[in-house]
Amino acid sequence: MTDLPQLLSDRLARAFAEVAGEPTDPAVRRSDRADYQADGALRLAKQLRRPPREVAAEVLERADLGDLVANAEIAGPGFLNLTVADSALAGLVEAMAADQARLGVGLTPDPERVLVDYSGPNVAKEMHVGHLRSTIIGDALVRLLDYLGNDVVRQNHIGDWGTNFGMLIEHMIDLGTDETNAELSLGDLGAFYQDARKAFDANEDFATRSRRRVVALQGGDPETLALWRQLVELSAHYFDTVYERLEVLLRPEDTAGESSYNDQLNPVIEELLEVGLARESEGALCVFPEGFTGRDGGPLPLILRKSDGGFGYDTTDLAALRHRVRDLKARRLVYITDLGQRLHFEMVFEVGREAGWLGAEAQAEFQGFGIVLGADRKRLRTRAGDSIKLIDLIDEAVRRAAAVVAEKAPHLSQQEQNDVARMVGIGALKYADLSNDRVKDYVFDWDRMLSFDGNTAPYLQYAHARIQSVFRRGEVDPAALRGTKLVLADPAEHALALRLAEFEGLLYKAAEGVELHRITGYLFDLAQAFTAFYERCPVLRAENPETRTSRLVLCDVTARVLATGLSLLGIAAPSRM
Ligand code: ARG
Repeated sequence: MTDLPQLLSDRLARAFAEVAGEPTDPAVRRSDRADYQADGALRLAKQLRRPPREVAAEVLERADLGDLVANAEIAGPGFLNLTVADSALAGLVEAMAADQARLGVGLTPDPERVLVDYSGPNVAKEMHVGHLRSTIIGDALVRLLDYLGNDVVRQNHIGDWGTNFGMLIEHMIDLGTDETNAELSLGDLGAFYQDARKAFDANEDFATRSRRRVVALQGGDPETLALWRQLVELSAHYFDTVYERLEVLLRPEDTAGESSYNDQLNPVIEELLEVGLARESEGALCVFPEGFTGRDGGPLPLILRKSDGGFGYDTTDLAALRHRVRDLKARRLVYITDLGQRLHFEMVFEVGREAGWLGAEAQAEFQGFGIVLGADRKRLRTRAGDSIKLIDLIDEAVRRAAAVVAEKAPHLSQQEQNDVARMVGIGALKYADLSNDRVKDYVFDWDRMLSFDGNTAPYLQYAHARIQSVFRRGEVDPAALRGTKLVLADPAEHALALRLAEFEGLLYKAAEGVELHRITGYLFDLAQAFTAFYERCPVLRAENPETRTSRLVLCDVTARVLATGLSLLGIAAPSRM
């Protein structure tokens, strides 16, 4: 374990527990007066009704900080200011350096099967920016959970069923398969959907055919099913193109669309009836989860079966939840959609708990996200007011990145420039999303996300490439540095090493709360600490060979942490740019 804040916390926790008579959080955090401060004495003092400085003094007296802390003192109203010992810090970074595969990041002591529900686009409908957010956040979470040693199940709950399919199939018939094929494979899903809608609204005959088609589809008519399957396949193919371009891990076999639960809908309803959760209301069969009320104060339903006998989004999600716990054996279930769907999922989870699917053994969490805004601070759209095609957005990211790369890195060959532009463009798109607090809306801004300054992908990618160039210039093979002793003499070396020794703990925290912006914020801090170090401390021209190798080790670990951190976000780190 190389998690420095946790090590400090563990040392203090024993002393705190002795003073408190029960487990007490020392509340260790970064400080600008020392390396870290522990604020726990303040809260504990209130609890014990004693002066905080006195409590802090007693904790300090009992604490065995060993050789981890060089200096500890009581400050202000009762903080403990802690300065980490250089020798201990050097030991932690040496351990990271020596661990080629994992940089000292331990595997989780209790690995779980975690199911992540993300992306979820809809067949024959344009994937919108919300699906982009879900895809990017989900992909990063999946990579992170997997890295920490969990058994991750990816689930792409695509919208491939419902009454819309009557009109979509009829529209496909009218267009002819070839034309449909052409539109859908170009990713013109938006136009296809809108034309179908228009025909439905304007043409009585079309509307009647569509309604009849829905009945045929639900009745399992083979010809209709074949047409439906064709439509699903064409869309799925387009989704895969987007995933490939985005370089995310989602694969066709991760898809479990709404239709895959068709034969489980009736059994789920029967089970809910059996346990007494379902009841008739206004002609529909409903379930009223505890604690949810509408505006009028009345209980809020999830609809299991509509009055016309049809099933909808609610039923499918209940069936999916049951399947995921019972058959897929998920222990933690993470759902990633826009915050607009919070109520739906909170209600589904509550029914899951009441039905006994969820509980101590299996827990579900809704991790929603905010809206992507345009420069006008309204939902991001094209100039014509349409929703933006994801594939266009991705192409534009790479195109704009290519212009930036051509300007900043003219020394690279055309092929290298193309590769770097792809990594920078896609990286910038993902990073701009992930670096924002997930629950907040954010403004989409090409210039900012592609800037080489500030908390952006290009800044971090460049920082990484610059470190690589140190090794190239010095003709040093980082592997040859293994086993080197670190000397942390300069305050900038100390500060950089502190950040490095926070990597492990940071990843666990980010995974726990699905807070990927913690990773971006950390990488940005790290890159800045590196810059400060690099400006003060000559590396290749260090005063003596020991200092030189020691500084090269700091460079190497920093570069590997940057590359690993970025890769967990689904972002590549070119070695030159
Ligand atoms: N298809 C849905 C949408 O476009 C997202 C699916 C989310 N996952 C789920 N299990 N309902 O909004």
